[in-house]
Amino acid sequence: MRLAIVPPRASEFAGQYDILFAYITVVCVVMTILIFAGVAFFALKYRRRNVHERPTLIHGSMKLEILWSAIPLLVFLSMFAWGAALYFDYYIIPKDAIEIYAVGKQWMWKIQYPEGQHEINELHVPVGRNVHITLASEDVIHSFFVPAFRMKRDVVPGHYNTIWFRPTKKGRYHLFCAEYCGTQHSGMIGWVTVMDPMEYENWLQGGGTAGSMSSQGEKMFQQLGCSTCHLLDEQGRCPNLRNVYGNAVRLADGRTVIADEAYLRESILNPNAKIVEGFARDIMPTFEGQVSEESLLQLIAYIKSLSKNPTGTIGAGQAGRVAGQAGPTPVTEKGPPQR
Ligand code: CUA
Repeated sequence: MRLAIVPPRASEFAGQYDILFAYITVVCVVMTILIFAGVAFFALKYRRRNVHERPTLIHGSMKLEILWSAIPLLVFLSMFAWGAALYFDYYIIPKDAIEIYAVGKQWMWKIQYPEGQHEINELHVPVGRNVHITLASEDVIHSFFVPAFRMKRDVVPGHYNTIWFRPTKKGRYHLFCAEYCGTQHSGMIGWVTVMDPMEYENWLQGGGTAGSMSSQGEKMFQQLGCSTCHLLDEQGRCPNLRNVYGNAVRLADGRTVIADEAYLRESILNPNAKIVEGFARDIMPTFEGQVSEESLLQLIAYIKSLSKNPTGTIGAGQAGRVAGQAGPTPVTEKGPPQR
């Protein structure tokens, strides 16, 4: 076995990251050498030569002080500027990224694909495509780490974290949990397989008998009784969920929020946290503890599937109807029609 100092470079980000890392290392080594050499040089040059020697008083030099403050400041700020530029790149998810969902659980990674595929401790991705992973935790903090992609993100309970990458090389790469999460933490490992896009398509076709994530979510939506209040073709006791995802929602307290995954998740687990304008509190029970993180992602996938082109403001129209007790036809003042 060949011992590698750095893991293979298998993502778009890996090369850029390695250059920055090398730069930081070189700067730190050069600075360290300069400082230690300076200390040694001055200690020798200005050593006390005999017991009667009295040092001469040296007055400060403004020029020198500014110079030795400004130059290191600029050198170290360059690391910050470079790092920040990369960081933004790393955080802004490209629009064309394919979506995959990962749930960390003591002690495994559960991966699911919108098409309905499920796997444990295995992740399959196509080479050359942007891949966006939504991370959730069923229990404690984990950390999703693929060294070959130079990519690591904490997976925090009660919160969705996201990560994206573009694999550039086919192969099998290590997947680790990089946050101590209990006895079997070291066993919470898996493999990322980077495949040819064609192979990937074929792979997606195989398996996944349970249906797509959104169709599984739709089943849950019926089973949990969500569909009795969240009617899709008219206004029920709870907001109509058509075209909610990705849109602005006006709340009872006057705020406006964007209905993203985090908002939908919170509304399922803690319905009173954000009440849509015109609707009452305490109508919807909490589903905390009744729905697993995987099922939550399926429910959210279903609600996302109800919204094809997110535009406009939800809340105003629906609220108007409830407050005004208008006729049976759902009307929104803004945004796409409700059916
Ligand atoms: Cu999960 Cu360590």
